[in-house]
Amino acid sequence: MGRGYVTRRQFLSATSAATAAWATTRPAAPAARNGDAGKLAILGGQPVRTEPFHPWPVWREADEKTVLAVLRKGVWSRDKMVAEAEKRFAQLMGAKYCLMTTNGTNALITAMRAIGIGAGDEVITTPYTFVASIHPILLANALPVFADIDPDTWQINPARIEAKINQNTVAILPVHIIGGICDMDRINEIARKHNLKVVEDACEAHLGEWKHKKAGTLGNLGCFSFQTAKTLTCGEGGAILGDDEKLMDLCYSFHNLGRPHGKYMSRDKGGHPILATKCRMAEYQASILITQMEAFEAEIQLRCQNADYLTAKLRQIPGIVPRKDYPETTRTAYYYYGLRYQKEHFNGVPRDRFLAALSAEGIPASKGLGVIEGKPMNKEGLLEDAFSSKAYQRIYSKQKLAGYQKDNECPESDRLCQETVGFHQRVLLGSKADLDDIADAILKIYQNREQLSRT
Ligand SMILES: Cc1ncc(COP(=O)(O)O)c(C=O)c1O
Repeated sequence: MGRGYVTRRQFLSATSAATAAWATTRPAAPAARNGDAGKLAILGGQPVRTEPFHPWPVWREADEKTVLAVLRKGVWSRDKMVAEAEKRFAQLMGAKYCLMTTNGTNALITAMRAIGIGAGDEVITTPYTFVASIHPILLANALPVFADIDPDTWQINPARIEAKINQNTVAILPVHIIGGICDMDRINEIARKHNLKVVEDACEAHLGEWKHKKAGTLGNLGCFSFQTAKTLTCGEGGAILGDDEKLMDLCYSFHNLGRPHGKYMSRDKGGHPILATKCRMAEYQASILITQMEAFEAEIQLRCQNADYLTAKLRQIPGIVPRKDYPETTRTAYYYYGLRYQKEHFNGVPRDRFLAALSAEGIPASKGLGVIEGKPMNKEGLLEDAFSSKAYQRIYSKQKLAGYQKDNECPESDRLCQETVGFHQRVLLGSKADLDDIADAILKIYQNREQLSRT
């Protein structure tokens, strides 16, 4: 078996041991556990840690059984397994309907199509997101309009949304980034006032909650990803949640070559009444998803407990500012644990050097958080590529496209992109000692910042 394999018993005993340990431990004072700062591993000292962190993805006996059963049955494309996964995911999330898709990107493309986004429309979203939040807008020949982020929560700032609304605005696409939850009360209020649709990009926010309601069930439609790194995964996969039968029938039809479906996409209209695509989930994807859902709740509880423990420790280190949640967030989804690294508190040591020092101490961290690959989305090359296409040149005025960059400046997001450091959700599935190692390594770097800045 590979590193990711655990039996159900091993998983449950690890999670309850970690939980018990966390519950009885108070946050330690800001001092490294060995009592002195020690020499940094990047400068030739001993690393804080040599053990790997918790593996991801994790598979269990049940996953093997169901995948094999699908394989042997010989029905591999969409059938009963997918329907069962839809039923269970909808139940778990508290939504009326669920449609599984090949991935989160196509879930978003389908949702955009269902709410009728098209040429000339504007969709307000966040610059601090993964590129797949933007593709669906551009593929519909619509215009992404960027509202800056809240510097504390890193989510789209509702206070910046209203100024971006004009007669072309048709929707808001809030992205619950790295598993934090957007201020959905204010977003929905703005949407109601201006008669806009809300499609949540919840691809990073499985089981996250706003006032005890699940992220992805708070707007008109909510989209999810089950790609390998996600907290619920089947390798590649996606889902759309919604309570509106008509919208969901349209989604189904669109994801299935435009074939009629349900009450609202009736067969009277003939074979293929709408222009569509095909992005159906396969049976073996669904089978893994079903068994992965069994450990899902225990995993998120452990992540939340461990994240709180880590936050209490990190808050005490100058220049380390963990991401915050809105008070209405009743559960954070923790796709990544994110913090700001403020180099002015570290003698100006650049973030890349800080990350290299962390890595040398045995701590895997990144600046992209699986979100930004270099640039915020309002500055990404794909915009220029789209805008230079024949379609965009025909649809939008020269003036509109020429002023686009200036109109879409988002300084808070720019700053965040320079400062973010994050830890993938898998590190939150380990023991309290794992989190002590992370905090100790950061503290060690802080205590050696002067020396690090000179080398
Ligand atoms: C915020 C966000 N939106 C959309 C997607 C697209 O999901 P997928 O990779 O399953 O296509 C992802 C995941 O990678 C994501 O993180």
